[in-house]
Amino acid sequence: MRSHYCGQLDTSLLDKEVELYGWVHRRRDHGGVIFIDLRDREGLAQIVFDPDREEAFAIADSVRNEFVLRITGKVRNRPEGTINPDMPTGEVEVLGHTIEILNKAKTPPFQLDDEQVHDDIRQRYRYVDLRRPAMQKNMRLRSQVSRLMHNFLDDEGFLEIETPMLTKATPEGARDYLVPSRTHQGEFFALPQSPQLFKQLLMMSGMDRYYQIVRCFRDEDLRADRQPEFTQLDIETSFMNEEELMTLMEALMRNIFKELKDIELPSPFPRMSYAEAMQRFGSDRPDLRNPLELVDVSDVMAGVEFKVFSGPATMDDGRVAALRLPQGNKLTRKEIDDLTTYVAQFGAKGLAYIKVNDAATGRDGLQSPILKFLPDDVVQTIMDRTAAETGDLVFFGADKTRVVNDALGALRERLANDLSLHEGEWAPLWVVDFPMFDYNEDEKRWDALHHPFTAPQSDDAAELEANPRESLSRAYDMVMNGMELGGGSIRIHRPEMQMAALKLLGINEEEAKEKFGFLIDALEYGCPPHGGIAFGLDRIVMMLAGASSIREVIAFPKTQSASCLLTSAPSKAGSRQLKELGIRLAKPPKTE
Ligand code: AMO
Ligand code: AMP
Repeated sequence: MRSHYCGQLDTSLLDKEVELYGWVHRRRDHGGVIFIDLRDREGLAQIVFDPDREEAFAIADSVRNEFVLRITGKVRNRPEGTINPDMPTGEVEVLGHTIEILNKAKTPPFQLDDEQVHDDIRQRYRYVDLRRPAMQKNMRLRSQVSRLMHNFLDDEGFLEIETPMLTKATPEGARDYLVPSRTHQGEFFALPQSPQLFKQLLMMSGMDRYYQIVRCFRDEDLRADRQPEFTQLDIETSFMNEEELMTLMEALMRNIFKELKDIELPSPFPRMSYAEAMQRFGSDRPDLRNPLELVDVSDVMAGVEFKVFSGPATMDDGRVAALRLPQGNKLTRKEIDDLTTYVAQFGAKGLAYIKVNDAATGRDGLQSPILKFLPDDVVQTIMDRTAAETGDLVFFGADKTRVVNDALGALRERLANDLSLHEGEWAPLWVVDFPMFDYNEDEKRWDALHHPFTAPQSDDAAELEANPRESLSRAYDMVMNGMELGGGSIRIHRPEMQMAALKLLGINEEEAKEKFGFLIDALEYGCPPHGGIAFGLDRIVMMLAGASSIREVIAFPKTQSASCLLTSAPSKAGSRQLKELGIRLAKPPKTE
């Protein structure tokens, strides 16, 4: 029987016999004495073998890194001068009595303390990678976060209810992962992009408060904060309005941050409308630690002769905005060129700027390739509005509103990162008053900004149909330090309104019946007003861990191209299996 974890040894155990199990973290031969750092989930213990115990010494001499051992011995003080204050167990060591090799190990593919290992190697040997203390810490943190969620929601009267994985498509805006049915050949299940429709049905079933920590599947472009399968804390409630819901959800988040990080998040979290967030930050998930802000100058640019500015300034969906960078005058030509290349990724056709060499001397104190196009009063308004001071630099974006917001929003983030401009550590925010719809230029139709089941602020279906562009929704997103942690809404609970919303999205009655008939039917059988939210568990843990990617907090994540290097999934299916499923593969296109 194990008596202790390696990481638990301390001076309270002096002279005690212990039995430890673990992995060889390091083995050192110090002039006839062998030291083994034995590692388990809780930490490291130093075990000493001296030649007096011949048999044990011989075995200790033969072990290599990552061998799995059982050790018995007696805890003693480390000799003066060998105490390691950086190690929790650094005051003591174990004089080894017996040692048993439970299993050998090949030379590991990388050193556990090597920080530079290529991600592919880490994933391929994830079981070794996960032994690293940092990864063990992340896994433990993740478990603690989900435990706190369970406890909090349990206390608040939420029921944990599971929903199907083999189901019908739920529209959350990504591609579906499909699963072929053997018993219904030619038909497919979709893995859920979220339990959205089921959780609504649970409200119609009278469950009142539901939650689930649940895997969701989305076939979409992956990034540092996106995986094809990820975990949501999914929540739905009946008879609560958005204010009540946001208050409760903030309390959950405050509890997690307090318990795990001893951080007091503000109460309440600040709220900001979508329109204000876009106007001031060019983003619907602004990082409020970043002091830089966009300033509108469309009105003053409408009359200038510089077409690059006056064009967008007079366009319906155009915008000209300025971004002041305090002390930005220091940026070199090359740095500005790099930033110009950077914003080009977001569609910006250029990045005009004015350097403020001396704010007191009017246009003489300014330096800019576009200055010649701008009359005095325009220059003055820009200086006033941006509150530019000597030494500052003012950037400009002029284009379609979406391009300006994307480009200057990203520039704002990039500058704050490059120049360490962030103020404060944690900046939670609720973004509210989202538009209902977003116009899809490519397909010339309206898309749901949230999802098609989100309620509009107006209760009147005719009003929604008459004015989709201006309609706001009852959706809310929780944002932290520029990352969307969760999003939800009050839902449509009347069939007429649901049909009107679907119609606006270009989904006709027949298609609506085919795709969501079960939901629309259920709306007719006594549906309570309801609403909810889903948080990205991976993202919350990533934030708390200070990790740079959600892969660091997922035990077995997938690569950028959505494959698993450990198991080599996805992989080919055998012809017999395909035949059973009634599937024949199209010949892969010949590559020249
Ligand atoms: P939404 O699509 O905003 O809402 O998702 C909720 C939260 O899930 C996280 N998330 C992801 N995390 C990792 N990888 C991904 N690919 C990924 N996609 C989303 C984000 C996001 O805020 N049914 C609605 C919720 C509701 O209305 O109640 C939904 O799924 O943190
Ligand atoms: P040009 O007249 O095209 O040489 O542009 C003059 C300056 O305006 C350059 O600094 C460009 O980077 C900048 N510029 C060009 N197009 C835009 C745009 N759409 N938004 C902001 N700046 C731009």
